[in-house]
Amino acid sequence: MVMMAVMMTPLVILVTMFLRVACDTLLCYFVTPMRIERIMEKQGVRGPKRRILTGNISEMLSLHSSATSEPMKSISHDIVSRLVPHFAAWYPKYGQRFLYWNGIEPRLCLTETELIKEFLAKYNSVSGRSWQQRQGSKHFIGEGLLMANGDQWYHQRHIVSPAFTGERLKEYAGNMVECTKEMLQSLKNAFESGHREIEISDYMTRLAADIISRTEFGTSYEKGKQLFQLLTNLQAHCAQASRNLWFPGSRYFPSKYNRETKAMKTKVDRLLMEIIESRKDCVEIGRTNSYGNDLLGILLNEMMMTKEKKTKTTTKRGNNNGFNLNLQLIKDECKTFFFAGHETTSLLLTWTVMLLACNPSWQEKVRAEVKEVCNNGGIPSHERLSKLTLLQMVINETIRLYPPAMVLPRMAFEDIKLGDLLIPKGVSVWVPVLAMHHSKKLWGEDADEFNPNRFASKSFSSGRFIPFAVGPRNCIGQAFALMEAKIILAMFISKFRFTISENYRHAPEVVLTIKPRYGVQVCLEPLDN
Ligand code: HEM
Repeated sequence: MVMMAVMMTPLVILVTMFLRVACDTLLCYFVTPMRIERIMEKQGVRGPKRRILTGNISEMLSLHSSATSEPMKSISHDIVSRLVPHFAAWYPKYGQRFLYWNGIEPRLCLTETELIKEFLAKYNSVSGRSWQQRQGSKHFIGEGLLMANGDQWYHQRHIVSPAFTGERLKEYAGNMVECTKEMLQSLKNAFESGHREIEISDYMTRLAADIISRTEFGTSYEKGKQLFQLLTNLQAHCAQASRNLWFPGSRYFPSKYNRETKAMKTKVDRLLMEIIESRKDCVEIGRTNSYGNDLLGILLNEMMMTKEKKTKTTTKRGNNNGFNLNLQLIKDECKTFFFAGHETTSLLLTWTVMLLACNPSWQEKVRAEVKEVCNNGGIPSHERLSKLTLLQMVINETIRLYPPAMVLPRMAFEDIKLGDLLIPKGVSVWVPVLAMHHSKKLWGEDADEFNPNRFASKSFSSGRFIPFAVGPRNCIGQAFALMEAKIILAMFISKFRFTISENYRHAPEVVLTIKPRYGVQVCLEPLDN
């Protein structure tokens, strides 16, 4: 009898486990999707027909690959149907709210500005990154601020905020000017050695990487070259995977993708560890008595402090809810800030140069403004930046037409009542920034044209212009990015006149952000000043 009971126990465990997995699978793949579809349908929210398991992924993939297979025929900014062809196909058919499926993840595309503002401002604590999103970038930026949720996000945001105060930004300005001078010198050298045409995105990428590295991590692009290259490759790798299907457990498969990602991630982490260790060594051998007040220093100080007072640490919310800032999280945070802090800004700079190269009258207007505001050879002091209003209008128009972050994704972790809409738990709200920035309904018939004058009045509605998102989870680096962009563009435009090269092929594409597939080739003419 006892013997039988002993034999039965593993069997019972196995059967229970099997039933549990079967039950979860049934819920995850069949019951929940049907429930969500019913709730949305009752509210009049429809969308393309969902396939079991794959949802609408295959349609999206085929729409996407045919839309971007060729460069555009002319330099047109009418890019919504190219970059988000599924939006262009479904919005006219299903209206301003529609539901589609990325595999088993339901995505609610929301385009009503008032609802979006309310959602982003009020429901931050009950919404965040979905499992699929976190899984997709796990090996890239890990658990850093961009991918954190709930209390973890709150703690991380609270810790890094001091690196972005007004005072700190003022200190960064000097670094930004120095890095830009170096970049301008290398452009001058290239010109003098016979290169009349240059590919500007390479220069802007290196410059933005140099600035974020020096200001936030105390290293330079040259020193961290290998790290930056690896991170860029890792990003492209993860972007490719984000379009594919994810199953729970797929991360454990020894697939080629998983093996390659792991190898790249290991190399990146090792290089980051070297930067972190060298900072720690300086304190440990007594060369300095602080880890520094840049982002890396702030993170290391916090980690050491929490180690010391682990049990006592409290926060505004009363306790730290198990929050633990360890070395892995510091590495993730470094990757996050490196990615978020250089990629987006370098794209903003690249697209601005492209647009000004195609619009010589705006280029001259901005140049004249810079000359008037900064009489020291186009180097704007921190105080004078706000006087560069035409340049700000051009920057706004650039991130309206080519917003580096083209969607804002947030999953509802609870049922959310938004105006007349009930968003059930488990639905990811997707705010289509690019499509809204190009909407004729919101911007008028010339929505696809380059017209910085639309930003002349300060009263433009914030609801339709959301390049940095809004609400508590907006871009923490917004002021940093705008200051950097103004300094670089003011200095660049004072030193060079530029026109678009006939070799430029207009082929915007999405690799997490909006990039020019073949770069941006411009012809330079140095200016004497
Ligand atoms: C033109 C430049 C930039 C643009 C257009 C931009 C845009 C955005 C947007 C739209 C978000 C919200 C994303 C979402 O919630 O899904 C965001 C978040 C973020 N950005 Fe930026 N960004 C820029 C530059 C920067 C810079 C320079 C830094 C750092 C130095 C930075 C760091 C971050 C971080 C860490 C987050 C996550 C914030 C959080 O979740 O609390 N960004 N950015």
